[in-house]
Amino acid sequence: MGDYSVTVLPGDGVGPEVTEQALEVLLTVADLYRHKLTIHHRLAGLASIAAEGVAISEATMQTCAESDAILFGAIGSLPAHERRNATVKPEQALFRLRKDFQFFANLRPIRPSRSLYSASPLKPSYLEGTDLIFVRELSAGLYYGHLESVPGKPSEIRRTERGEEAIDTLLYTEQEIERVVRAAFDIAVARRRLVTSVDKANVLSSSILWRRIVERVAVDYPAVTYEHILVDACAMYLVRDPSRFDVIVTENLFGDILTDQASMLTGSIGMIPSASLGVRRSQAGTFGLFEPIHGSAPDIEGQDKANPVAAILSAAMLLRHSLGLHEEALAVEAAVEEVIQDGYRTVDIQEEGAKVVGTREMGKRITAALRRP
Ligand code: IPM
Ligand code: MN
Repeated sequence: MGDYSVTVLPGDGVGPEVTEQALEVLLTVADLYRHKLTIHHRLAGLASIAAEGVAISEATMQTCAESDAILFGAIGSLPAHERRNATVKPEQALFRLRKDFQFFANLRPIRPSRSLYSASPLKPSYLEGTDLIFVRELSAGLYYGHLESVPGKPSEIRRTERGEEAIDTLLYTEQEIERVVRAAFDIAVARRRLVTSVDKANVLSSSILWRRIVERVAVDYPAVTYEHILVDACAMYLVRDPSRFDVIVTENLFGDILTDQASMLTGSIGMIPSASLGVRRSQAGTFGLFEPIHGSAPDIEGQDKANPVAAILSAAMLLRHSLGLHEEALAVEAAVEEVIQDGYRTVDIQEEGAKVVGTREMGKRITAALRRP
């Protein structure tokens, strides 16, 4: 029996709906396994901007810092006309959390369930054996421009005699690369021991440095095989032969793009959870932020249509990585698999003969499966 605290930031769009189901799962786990779980509900994103004028307040950052983990929903977006000159944007909450807590390693597992093979645009023969995990660098790169700049600041578009110009900077330090590459090798040791490092070393200096550091780190892991591939080739291999991958490590923007693509191997982006981990230890694991990789989907907000699975699997990752509750995490994953195998789907999954249910019913069925002995 443990005593844990989690800060919940449901965010915008479908964030609150899917987070509600994920939270229900966490509370059910606490009940079944007799853990004490204290929940702090706080605002982030548009709701926080409306209430407090900032995407995330100092007080909320402090509450997060005092918790064992953060459960996050989704963030964004402002309508285009409001965005144009906005200096406060909902995404700043996420950039602030990632940067301030140094969440440099973003884990995104892709493991298609056999019962969802027919939901994927790929033929089942291409999916067989696929079980990979992305380690996306999350605290630097193009998302942050210059080191001294404000994270998530509105991009600078400037007027020159040639017309308008805009600059984004891709900067990585040796330390920033090394820590995420090490995290990837550590993960590979406990898996199939293959690291694929993805870069664009035929064009970018930051990628040449990245490769050099992968070579250096690899020396410490003689049992792990590694390879370098270019990001464009990786995009191609992800659909041609996804089972060739085990651990894929890459910089921030490449990881953002490739993980949305890879999500379709599972049938829907609504299936993929993530864990953002840093250096700080929590009482039984690593302090982290856990969120679905999908966005706020404002087009289906409040309609009970969003797939809660990614959020629920993020809660499972929270149990495993920040609370050290491995058995409980496995139980949640098994409950999700059971409901999927029983044929229940949300509308994002287009499949013949599927039993289509809403966000709440999907969550309820997963919680019920968890409670079954
Ligand atoms: C993600 C999201 C974010 C990102 C957005 C909301 C800024 O797409 O977590 O993948 O690009 O990192
Ligand atoms: Mn993304």
